This record gives sequence, structure tokens and C-alpha cells, in this order.
Amino acid sequence: MPSAANKQNKTLRILGIETSCDETSVALLVLERGTRNMKRQSGHQTLHDTGYTIRVIKHLIATQIPIHARYGGVVPEVAARTHVAEVVSLLDKTLGQKSKVKSRKLETLNFKLGTWNSGSFEAIAVTQGPGLATALRVGINAAKTLAWTCDKPLIPVNHLEGHLASAWLVPANRERWEFPILFLLVSGGHTELVLMQDFGKYKVLGRTRDDAAGECFDKTAKLLGLPYPGGPHLSKLAVKGNPKAFDLPRPMLHDPSLDFSFSGLKTAVRQLIEQSTQNAKRKTNNQKLGTWNLKLGTVEDMCASIQAAIVDVLVAKTIKAALKVKPKAVAVVGGVSANPLLKSELRRALRKSCPGVTLLAPAKGLYTDNGAMIAAAGLWKFLGNRKQPRWQAMDAEPDLDL
Ligand code: KG4
Ligand code: ZN
Repeated sequence: MPSAANKQNKTLRILGIETSCDETSVALLVLERGTRNMKRQSGHQTLHDTGYTIRVIKHLIATQIPIHARYGGVVPEVAARTHVAEVVSLLDKTLGQKSKVKSRKLETLNFKLGTWNSGSFEAIAVTQGPGLATALRVGINAAKTLAWTCDKPLIPVNHLEGHLASAWLVPANRERWEFPILFLLVSGGHTELVLMQDFGKYKVLGRTRDDAAGECFDKTAKLLGLPYPGGPHLSKLAVKGNPKAFDLPRPMLHDPSLDFSFSGLKTAVRQLIEQSTQNAKRKTNNQKLGTWNLKLGTVEDMCASIQAAIVDVLVAKTIKAALKVKPKAVAVVGGVSANPLLKSELRRALRKSCPGVTLLAPAKGLYTDNGAMIAAAGLWKFLGNRKQPRWQAMDAEPDLDL
């Protein structure tokens, strides 16, 4: 990473805003530079140095899960409208009431922003994509307004880079942060194996050709009548089930590529449900958990079998990639990294096949979408002096890739 020549303040505070899907989140992150390494080399400090600490001063998440659960999935228009209501309230709670915003532009325009403290941060990071276009635009417009009124730089952040940064927020992980790091990025919208060669330098080694792992958890859980989002519900029930009860496919397990495919697994589950329910007339999509009636096993057995199939493929492909690229560490990030079996199986497989390579994961509360990871990735970009667009020209990029 290039040095941060023009950012020599002892502390650097970044405001992070996330509105890409169904969580509105705002965080305030501070990087405090230690004095020990301040004058090394040309007098600049970078994120490769160790003389800094990172603290999350404030981190608020307003989840929309109960709202979308009524519809069985995210409704983009409802998500965007809910972000509008939440983002201002979260910014209010984060930036506090200490001092009036000082801005000449505001005074000339003669309107009142409220009592947000523009002196409590140096830059704003916001999710630019990927995600739902209308939802992304809510966060982006809030961030643009702040950048304009408070006269602060605006850093557009790739949501996927944010997930990578979620592991870096754990202090113990930062001590073992040695490149190259192999990431298994598993969320509701993405399943990718990414090699991180440096801050901002990524190579996608493989990705899903259809459904994402989180999507497979959610869709199969829905077939079983579990509430949205199904992943956490399915994994809880799986603890009490037999993972060998149902013989489910492990798509692309033996394919030489590092790509994934999960839609076949979803179809296999659907067919099993259709075959095994006693009442053939029952509409499988509306199957209620209480009316589940498999001849071959319980709902818990089905959950355990689905989870085992997904985890088997994710672990096998990650190990295949690790043996190929020989990373210093492997990290698992994204909403599905909350799954305990995935982490324990990855750890076990790494111990067996890649001894000495440790597994890094985010801390609880940072697995799913959040503003702290966006602020952290914003910090990487800001200190890396990566080219930023003028905030006036910035717009949502729903299909952004790494
Ligand atoms: O990263 P994330 O919050 O959103 C996206 O960027 O897509 O991930 C959400 C996904 C959902 O599919 C959810 O079901 C899944 O993460 N998830 C889980 C667990 N917790 C969340 N999947 C399996 N097991 C879990 N414990
Ligand atoms: Zn995400």
C-alpha cells in the first residue's frame, strides 16, 4: 500500500454508511497512530506498520429482517423506504448533538441541518455496490449530503471489500495479517474465493455459477417453511439432526475449477420434499414446518443434511485453492461465516491439509452487513491514496465486482 503522506494526523476518524440490502448501518471508526513508528522511513506510516490501533467508537445496525420476513424475502422498494427512515436517525445517534455543523455553504443557503458534529470525523465511506440500486442510493445520497455540507472527502466502498475488511477489524487477526490471504467470501448474494495480495489488490479465483451459498441456505429453508432469512434458522435446527439422513448432491465438488454451483442442491431438496410428503396435493412452496411429514427423516435431519452438503463443497474448494496458491492465512467472511459448522470444518481441514495456515474470521456482529466493515474498507482506500471519484459524480453500482 502506498504511504499516507498527506494524512499525517495522529487520529483519523471515518464514518461508514451501509444500505446495500436489508440492514441500515452507521459506524464511526478511529485509527490512532502510535508514536513508536511514526518517523520510520520517509516519515510516513502505512497500514503495513504496526504502530496503530483501530477502535470502533460507535456502531449501529437497524435490521429490516422483521419487515421483509412478512414477504418471505427482501422487497427492494420497501428496503429503500425503510433505509430513508433509518439512516438519518442512525446518523443522528452517531454524530451526536455536541456542536452545530460549521459550513459556509450551509450558512449561505440558510437551512438548518440539525446539530450534527461535523468535527467528529475526517472522511465518509459509503457502500457504492453491489446491492439493490434503490437501497444503495439512499446511503449514497445521505453520504453525498454530508460530504457537501461538512466539506469532507467521500470514499465509495465496494461492499465485497467491506466484507474482506470485517476480518481485519478483529485485533488478533490484524496481528496475523500477512499477505497473500485467501478469502472465502460467502454471503446471501456472493460466493467467491478471493486472493488478497495487498490492500486493494484482489484476484477472484472462483465464484458461484448460479446461486450463492447464503441464497441456497435461504431458499431451501423457505422450502421447509422456515422464516426469512432461513440460513440462521436452518443452521440452528441442523444441530439436532443427522447430516447423513438424506443423500444430497455436492455440486461441482470434483470439478477441477474453483467455481461453485448451488442451484442443483436446491432442486434436489425440492424434489425430495415433493416425493416424501404424504399429501401429494399440498403445495410445497407453502409447506409449513408444522405440517412437515417426511418418511425418511425429520426436519432437523433435512436441515443437517443441507448444511453438510453446502459446507462440504465450501471447505473442499477452499482447501483446493489453498493448496494451489499457498496463502499465509485463510479468512472466511460474509453472512454465512456466522455458521459454526463451516468454521469448525474449515479449521479442521486446514489443520490436516495446510498445517500452519490459520483461519481468520470476523467477530460476532460483523458477519452480516454492517457499517464498521465499510468504514474499515474506506480506511484502506483512504490511506492507500486510491483514486476516488468526485463525490458529485458518484452513483450506485449495483453490479460492482472486486
Ligand atoms: O453478508 P450478508 O449479511 O448479506 C449479503 O451481502 O448478502 O449475508 C446474509 C446471508 C443470508 O443468506 C443468511 O441466511 C446467511 O448470510 N447467514 C447464514 C447464517 N447466518 C447468516 N447462513 C448459514 N448459517 C448461518 N448461521
Ligand atoms: Zn453483505
